[in-house]
Amino acid sequence: MYSERIRLVSLHDRIMSAEQAAALIEDGMTVGMSGFGGAGDAKAIPAALVERAGRDPLKINLITGASLGKGLDGLMAEAGLLARRMPFQGDPVLRRAINAGEVAFIDQHLSEVVEQMRDGHIPTPDVAVVEAVAITERGHIVPTSSVGNSASLALAAKRVIVELNLGCNPLLEGLHDIHVPADRPDRQPIPLVRVDDRIGTPAIEIDPAKIAAIVICDTPETAYPMLPPDDETQAIANHLIGFFEREVARGRLAGNLAPLQVGVGSIANAVMHGLIESSFSDLTLYSEVLQDSAFALFDAGRLRFASGCSITLSEDCGRRVFAELGKYRERLVLRPQEISNHPEVARRLGIIGINTALEFDIYGNVNSTHVGGTRMMNGIGGSGDFTRNARLAIFVTKSIAKDGAISSVVPMVSHVDHTEHDVDILVTEQGLADLRGLAPRERVRAIIDNCVHPDYHAALEDYFERASRRGGQTPHLLGEALSWHLNLEERGHMLKAI
Ligand code: COA
Repeated sequence: MYSERIRLVSLHDRIMSAEQAAALIEDGMTVGMSGFGGAGDAKAIPAALVERAGRDPLKINLITGASLGKGLDGLMAEAGLLARRMPFQGDPVLRRAINAGEVAFIDQHLSEVVEQMRDGHIPTPDVAVVEAVAITERGHIVPTSSVGNSASLALAAKRVIVELNLGCNPLLEGLHDIHVPADRPDRQPIPLVRVDDRIGTPAIEIDPAKIAAIVICDTPETAYPMLPPDDETQAIANHLIGFFEREVARGRLAGNLAPLQVGVGSIANAVMHGLIESSFSDLTLYSEVLQDSAFALFDAGRLRFASGCSITLSEDCGRRVFAELGKYRERLVLRPQEISNHPEVARRLGIIGINTALEFDIYGNVNSTHVGGTRMMNGIGGSGDFTRNARLAIFVTKSIAKDGAISSVVPMVSHVDHTEHDVDILVTEQGLADLRGLAPRERVRAIIDNCVHPDYHAALEDYFERASRRGGQTPHLLGEALSWHLNLEERGHMLKAI
């Protein structure tokens, strides 16, 4: 069975068990692993490392594309395996270890990881572990449902372990477009001018001599839990679609909008579902993670083409899409995250970036990562790559969280990921604030009038009114600006005074 998938016959003698292959990884090494949003993860080697760490303490520095699925990040954290972890995660157990200071987490713009590796700021991997659907006649690696950083990690690593996953549909081959920018000073412009351009190769072109081990697996794709749309996410979608319709009517956007980038998470996914009922068609996605909503839009005849760096689907959607891949594959491409998230390409294509905020403030600064200003949630991911360079940078969130104890609109964000200079549009279920071309005090009006939950409206008005009396380009009461977060920490509600 595997012989058809390892087409360079001389590599057949590198097949070994996961335990044998994992023995190539030594204490203190930097390891690169495939995996992005729970798609295309290395699975057998992390499991074997966890098993080994139970017997024999072991620490590694782990670099991936983004988060791993199947609880792997949590299992590795629990086993004490992770000394340093980059560039993104989304696991509750690892999150606890990061916030307890047990794992050094380097939260990075996803497009920049391999640039920093090239420049020597982060180490190149001693070993890269890449899940593959096939190895070609020339010994090149065909990834599975994500590309992420796999190509650059495999190219940079001293040795490569391939996890050949027989459970993946062979039709995945042909979906990938691997383009790796040259080192400086010989870097050329990225020759990608349309969402569906192919500019690279269908496999990762490494020297097959570097393949030190091949582990045969048969593991199903990881399912990514996705909450269904609810009344609030539907309202957010309606506000956004109304805004797009007005932009088209004014001639500022074309009838098929502009290439869309849609961030991770249930809210952004639900917002995309809202486009199914809209009047827009011939849409394109130039995004990072392709979620359930991308395939719902294909099925509804709304989406023409989707470019991403991973396909991250819920269980039911994943089962169906991977079984029927032939139906979609001509309209899909998976690229390295350096290209899917590249600022140069995002700016050239003029993307509309839709990402999720944890909170934003009355001036439009956005916090996507830190709960209460200190505790890491997931990481910035690709949201910064897109937001700074988008034609339209949009953030969505529900106006309250935790049964109303938290307002997502606050006087001052407790951590800044996206500054007021980068953010164009903010949307909650209450309404939409268009911040383009507005001065700070004008932005406050747009945000308070449109986005704030009624329970917090008067308190924000009062804060701004008193701050305005103090004056300034961006008025604040510095002694009070973070008092809502302090109230939450000490009293369990943002408006319960201390
Ligand atoms: N303060 C504290 N907690 C908050 C909050 C706030 N202001 N707003 C929301 N939350 C909580 C929610 O209650 C929920 O908690 P739970 O997990 O205990 O139920 C959790 O945060 C997630 O919020 P949810 O409303 O379900 O949103 P989501 O699943 O869409 O995730 C982010 C939102 C911001 C965490 C997620 O989008 C993210 O990690 N973004 C950063 C990376 C990124 O944007 N990448 C984009 C490029 S692909």
